[in-house]
Amino acid sequence: MCGIVGYCGPGPASEVLLEGLKRLEYRGYDSAGICVDVDDELKVIKKKGKIKDLKEIVPEDLDGHSGIGHTRWATHGEVNDRNAHPHMDDSGKVVLVHNGIIENYEGIKRRLKKEGHTFLSDTDSEVIAHLIASLYQGNLEAAVRKSAFLLKGTYGIAVMHRDEPGTIVGIRNGSPLVLGIGDGEMFLASDVTAILAHTKQVVYLEDKEIVTITADTYRTSDYYEQEIEKKIESIGWELEQIEKDGYEYFMEKEIWEQPESILRAVQGRIDREGATGHLGGLNMTPRQLLNIKRIYIVAAGTSFYAGMVGAFLLESIARIPASTELASEVRYKNPVVEPDALYFVVSQSGETADTLYAMRELQRKGATVLGICNVVGSTIARESDGGVYIHSGPEIAVASTKAFTSQISVFYLLTLLLARMRHLSFEDGLEIVDAIEKVPDQIKKILEKTDTIRSLAKKYARYTNFLFLGRGLNYSVALEGALKLKEISYIHAEGYSSAEIKHGPIALINETTPSLFLVPDDKLRDKVINNIKEVKARSGKVIAVAVEGDNEVAGIVDDVIWIPKTNPVVYPYLMVIPLQLFAYYCALELHRDVDQPRNLAKSVTVE
Ligand code: M6R
Repeated sequence: MCGIVGYCGPGPASEVLLEGLKRLEYRGYDSAGICVDVDDELKVIKKKGKIKDLKEIVPEDLDGHSGIGHTRWATHGEVNDRNAHPHMDDSGKVVLVHNGIIENYEGIKRRLKKEGHTFLSDTDSEVIAHLIASLYQGNLEAAVRKSAFLLKGTYGIAVMHRDEPGTIVGIRNGSPLVLGIGDGEMFLASDVTAILAHTKQVVYLEDKEIVTITADTYRTSDYYEQEIEKKIESIGWELEQIEKDGYEYFMEKEIWEQPESILRAVQGRIDREGATGHLGGLNMTPRQLLNIKRIYIVAAGTSFYAGMVGAFLLESIARIPASTELASEVRYKNPVVEPDALYFVVSQSGETADTLYAMRELQRKGATVLGICNVVGSTIARESDGGVYIHSGPEIAVASTKAFTSQISVFYLLTLLLARMRHLSFEDGLEIVDAIEKVPDQIKKILEKTDTIRSLAKKYARYTNFLFLGRGLNYSVALEGALKLKEISYIHAEGYSSAEIKHGPIALINETTPSLFLVPDDKLRDKVINNIKEVKARSGKVIAVAVEGDNEVAGIVDDVIWIPKTNPVVYPYLMVIPLQLFAYYCALELHRDVDQPRNLAKSVTVE
């Protein structure tokens, strides 16, 4: 979604801003712009399209040392130059960039219009610039603070005033904002990747906090003018991790990183001696863990599917009733919070609005909510009552891949931990540990032989509908495979339990709708084979992801992708890799923008 970057320092502001915006491209956007303070004039340059289009219209000699920049993902008003940020009030004195949604903007706009303001865009964001201008009495921070009491909605804002050159005020309520502290320079950003090339020292703003920066000072305060002393934290990521490192796309790099990212997720968390998992961040005593009677997992998108794998493991192995709920639905169903239940929210970014708001609602009702996040210092990570980082490293491609396998890794560890406290024997626990430990090498083997998948993508990429079918633990993997294909290749794909097709989806089957079946050698294999035969009997084309040596499957399907044999419990790891690759190669085949698929954003920070 939208991205913000701000800079005050001795360097060329336009360069720093454009470079920061480039790093934010992965979040998804449709227009971009910058404002630079040049000889006490606020120069705004903005454009629909990509950063490279913006770069072309930024004069090389734009000589200013402070400024703000923005990538816009349209919510209010169509995608055009006018609606791009930064927005300026009509006196030309206040310029701002905004992430989030102002719910009461229409009322404010009506009132300001009556007072004589003229608006140039259709956005909710422009209204804030006019509002701040109308409240300004010689002190930008004070005007921003006053405006906060009048705005309803979510916002991360960076704002400048022509009469206060070299100063930027940032304010946060619901949309992330981070301050970067450099050597004689300060930064503001919605996401640390925008400033990682310049500094690793950051201060995360909380909701209802304001920061005012100049090149060598910063001040953090609340809405009531109370100064707040904030902790300076260090970003744990390296610059190389947010670069493509020779790969064509971030998605490709992130798929190939999985043997290492899974290792990072489990490292130091497997206790072989006890055949169990060790997750310090849960902040719970063994007695508390033993008293859990139910587990709810709340998430969106790929994180939701990882949560489904988790719920299946927890219920079937740890014998704790567990279910997964869509974050967007939880918040509005007036959820019943059970005293003996434990709640998990899963989010790669830790900023997904649906998940964050669901978590807050559950917490309000007294739930203990633990987070499973990737981004350190993200809002969910900070506001949850404990939790576990998946340590995937930055995931830049919009399509989530390595986060999925790391999220399920945490669920495997959690299952081991809770199951060993209950019914799981040492021997059975150790078998699962052994299987998990083999996964990275088995994934490497799949990644060494991607030719089959690449040629299958060539063969199938022009079909317009697909079914992804799996059962048991691999049902959620089928859903994830369908999501991957549709989001980056735009091929319509639906995931189902293969048992479910006879209840409706089988009506879609003919020679133009291929099915991709997941066929592990588990106790449901024979039933899945029956489902394959049902599809074949109706002229449906079938690709199977099957276990090496399963000739029976090979004999009845059109194409096979082989995965190594393993303990059935860990097949989701091995099943998902070919599906990620299939989606990736289909998208390449169709010349899609793999890392930034249309209409999508990496981190969905609005409801
Ligand atoms: O950052 P989160 O894990 O909370 O994001 C949730 C979804 O928005 C995300 O998984 C989305 O579905 C991805 N584009 C899937 O590839």
